[in-house]
Amino acid sequence: MAKIEDRILEHSYDGIREYDNPLPGWWLYLFILTIIWAFSYMYYYHVANIGPGQDVEYTQEMAKFQLAFEDIPADLAPLTDDASINEGSEIFKKNCLICHGPEGQGGVGPNMTDEYWIHGGRYEDMVRTTQNGVPEKGMISWKMMMPNDQILKVTSFLMTLRGTNPPNPKAPQGELYVEQEAEEAEVSEERISEETKAAAATDIIDTNSETGDIPAVDSLGADNLGTDNLDTDNK
Ligand code: HEC
Repeated sequence: MAKIEDRILEHSYDGIREYDNPLPGWWLYLFILTIIWAFSYMYYYHVANIGPGQDVEYTQEMAKFQLAFEDIPADLAPLTDDASINEGSEIFKKNCLICHGPEGQGGVGPNMTDEYWIHGGRYEDMVRTTQNGVPEKGMISWKMMMPNDQILKVTSFLMTLRGTNPPNPKAPQGELYVEQEAEEAEVSEERISEETKAAAATDIIDTNSETGDIPAVDSLGADNLGTDNLDTDNK
């Protein structure tokens, strides 16, 4: 734009004269551009509804969030593939190491490599304790800070630390946890033999044969059985 000479305008207000100072071209074009932008924006989001509005975006974000943090089913098995374990190890280094020790040997938090657990030694206990934490004892609740896939990975990594015997372990805390498979296999063997006996006595298998299920011990009535095995249910 050619430079316009400042020129004084004709009119005068109570003797005050003013210059005609035109706006700089770049400023004027920018201004016009914002107006065009505003109309396009309005058309895009509010007239034609092409783009998602704030409320739609909010719902989408919340759905994503809920998916990432929804309840983890209790009967999950730990992940075992290398990629997940490696990622779990990284997550551990970043978030858990300061309290549980670089090799899980314990520090502020308990030892992850021994057979003693305060809050249970099953995989689902790892997941639950990690999610909910034990705030009064200094264990953080990670539920809202870590999406589920990360929780599953880091807890799966914890499972690999067992029996690794790192140097300077923290003294055991909690109760001795016996390997689940061994324990369960034993229990269910006992249980099946008890069940067969009980079923033979009461003919209960017939009444349940539609479902094809072996009747639950509890449904047989505790009188038929030694009650010793009844409370060992680990599910
Ligand atoms: C600020 C310190 C701190 C951090 C960080 C921390 N923990 Fe803990 N954690 C603890 C303490 C303290 C306990 C023991 C709680 C108790 O005594 O009941 C614990 C207990 C646990 C337990 C249960 C142990 C048992 O014996 O039952 C698990 C599992 C666990 N933490 C997992 C994790 C994971 C996974 C992370 C990282 C994502 C993590 N913790 C980060 C302090 C921490």
